[in-house]
Amino acid sequence: MRKKIVAGNWKMNLSLEEGQRLTSEILHQYANVINKQVSVVLNPPFPHLYPVKNLIGETQGIFLGAQNCSDKESGAFTGEVSAKILASFGVSHVILGHSERREYFKEGDALLATKVNQALAHDLTPIFCCGESLQTREEGNHISVVRAQLTASLFHLSAEEFSKVVIAYEPIWAIGTGKTATADQAQEMHQALRAHIAATYGKELAESISILYGGSANPGNAKELFAKPDVDGGLIGGASLKAGDFLEIICSF
Ligand code: 13P
Repeated sequence: MRKKIVAGNWKMNLSLEEGQRLTSEILHQYANVINKQVSVVLNPPFPHLYPVKNLIGETQGIFLGAQNCSDKESGAFTGEVSAKILASFGVSHVILGHSERREYFKEGDALLATKVNQALAHDLTPIFCCGESLQTREEGNHISVVRAQLTASLFHLSAEEFSKVVIAYEPIWAIGTGKTATADQAQEMHQALRAHIAATYGKELAESISILYGGSANPGNAKELFAKPDVDGGLIGGASLKAGDFLEIICSF
């Protein structure tokens, strides 16, 4: 069975103290969660990673993720953080290709392919984000555009490498807008992406890939989204900053 995953993307929010408080609250409430089949990934800003790791300690089922990594291995790249550094202290996941990085930092397909390679070379699980603009959806090209994002940044991988990737479908028009994709819209895209993966890597591998939905997911809509056969969890922004909401989403399977 595919892994169910709920990842929280804190983006550029919270002081160190607030981040530690949020982590402690999540851990406290998580202790009462009965269904521990869901993997939880906390993706705080870089300076929070080490303290959050110490709080997580040996807690089973909760993982630590970064929001970005460099495309370079190491060296004179001021301000960058490598996959190697992240892996050296227990980070296990990294969000790559988020639409905010694509838009504001001009990260393109080729650069993202290199970042994916770096992550995999250091045993980090890439949470690879893809998604279309509102205009693309209105033009009816959403499926081909999102498939092309996968092809361009992931399809150079070997089957073994690809099997380690998690995909997050995040329609840009749904991020931070309160306008969630309907469960049917999410299912349509997830199914199309799985078929696209199957065409290159085979059905068995495609069936094993977790595809998360992100974009205004919240405790009110998570159940319906997660009930869809090809929706394997969520990448949660705003609602991951409130322990209660985040836990409710985790418990929505
Ligand atoms: P929101 O849940 O705040 O819409 O953000 C989604 C997102 O971008 C997660 O990566």
